[in-house]
Amino acid sequence: MFAVTSPMPPAPLQRLHFDWLQSAGVQLAILRLDLVDPLISGNKWFKLKHHLEAAERAGARGVISLGGAHSNHLHALAAAGKRFGFATLGLMRGHAVETPTVLDLQAFGMELHWLGYAGYRARHAADFWDLWRERYPHLFPVPEGGGGLDGALGCADIVHQARSQLGQLDWQDYDACWLACGTGTTLAGLVLAEAGQHEVIGAMAVPAHHGVERNIQAILEPFASKLAPTSAMSFRTDEVLSSTGNYRLVDASRGGFAKTDSALLDFMAHHEAESAVPFEPLYTAKALMVLREAVEAGQIAEGTRLIFLHTGGLQGRRTFDLASARR
Ligand SMILES: Cc1ncc(COP(=O)(O)O)c(C=O)c1O
Repeated sequence: MFAVTSPMPPAPLQRLHFDWLQSAGVQLAILRLDLVDPLISGNKWFKLKHHLEAAERAGARGVISLGGAHSNHLHALAAAGKRFGFATLGLMRGHAVETPTVLDLQAFGMELHWLGYAGYRARHAADFWDLWRERYPHLFPVPEGGGGLDGALGCADIVHQARSQLGQLDWQDYDACWLACGTGTTLAGLVLAEAGQHEVIGAMAVPAHHGVERNIQAILEPFASKLAPTSAMSFRTDEVLSSTGNYRLVDASRGGFAKTDSALLDFMAHHEAESAVPFEPLYTAKALMVLREAVEAGQIAEGTRLIFLHTGGLQGRRTFDLASARR
């Protein structure tokens, strides 16, 4: 048994001023989830907390989950295990490699099993967990990325944190939330918490065929009758990939998950220097860049107030920093 208590202070909500926002008369504030904790950072604690509570209730001694060699999810989970004193086991994509993330996972005491690529693809099979539950009956399985309904429900708190700080910005209200999506779990949690009051726009860090829309729909389905469509949509374009009346998805992947290019890296460096906010290239910089494209294309109405989520992931950028130092 282990006991998890929320260690997190509220994420600060800060104004961002970029010239492209000013030219279009769009106001932007960033919710700094990257600052809630040095290790259990970004959207990760929100996605994990209900899973960890379920593990506690089940009397588990720890948690088993999945991810890749740069996984922000496994990094946060391993750090939580070390802090709260529960065992962690990571089922890893591919073959053993040493990345800064993997070295941290081991230092935090996570046991790793490398599944290869075919073995990792089998994670969607109905009997995937049987073997692992048999081998580790005392460990509680948490889906990849901390996803599913439990992951989404924990993210509702993100909306409450943002709302409670609007007064400090002299904002009465806001029009929409903008965030990076990988599985869509965080977005689904925001949609549930907003219950149609504000639009939620997901900038997909993965291509459309990765099933983000399907994941979101699976989480929202049971609540469909309670989710009113958002009345005022500030985003006026036909280019959105999907819309059900209370959220939209735009492609921010730039050709594939984890694909980077010099335009993206230059954009990130410039915006970091301008704002003193650190971003990373896989999620947050891509989400901000696609927002700039939408603003510059005139798709966001003048006077719109947007909340941009900084979903963390800064630990994962160490690989990019190392790669550019070697160039
Ligand atoms: C830094 C970062 N931002 C955003 C996301 C996307 O979150 P979700 O999978 O809930 O869409 C992830 C992935 O979990 C992430 O690591």
